[in-house]
Amino acid sequence: MLLLTGYSEKGNANDESKVDGRWYTQSQVDKGRIAFEKNCAECHGKEAQGTLKWMDALPDGTYPPPPLNGTAHAWHHPLNALRRTVYFGGVRLGGTMPAFKDSLKIEEIDAVIAYFQSKWNKKIYDAWLERGGLK
Ligand code: HEC
Repeated sequence: MLLLTGYSEKGNANDESKVDGRWYTQSQVDKGRIAFEKNCAECHGKEAQGTLKWMDALPDGTYPPPPLNGTAHAWHHPLNALRRTVYFGGVRLGGTMPAFKDSLKIEEIDAVIAYFQSKWNKKIYDAWLERGGLK
């Protein structure tokens, strides 16, 4: 089975509980939904649908929150990069997304990622895997 570097193995109790052979379990998705609604939905939308014009820069040169549901670029980033984005936020890269390293546990960060990835259809998830999503 896939060995993820680091911490998420704990959350993956056994293969049977994984969703559609993906790296996460249904219980991560369920916990992630709650944490997402609390911490992310105000910007990325409850269903991770993001902002309609997420590609258009705002007057101050920053960008609006993109969709995380598979319709934007999130699937271009491997799991560890997604974890870093949530952990450190986007400010260090000139963006506006806050860091969550002080407010979410590592397990909760994995859970919110599991939640928004649960919105990705098979085609997107497979393309993400092919690009090295779990490497
Ligand atoms: C205050 C608004 C705000 C909040 C709250 C927020 N984000 Fe973001 N997020 C953004 C913005 C804006 C970007 C675009 C990059 C930037 O400006 O930092 C972004 C980018 C991202 C990206 C990169 C997407 C890509 O296509 O590369 C991910 C992943 C992400 N956010 C996940 C989350 C998660 C998970 C949460 C909750 C734990 C969250 N965000 C909370 C505003 C927010």
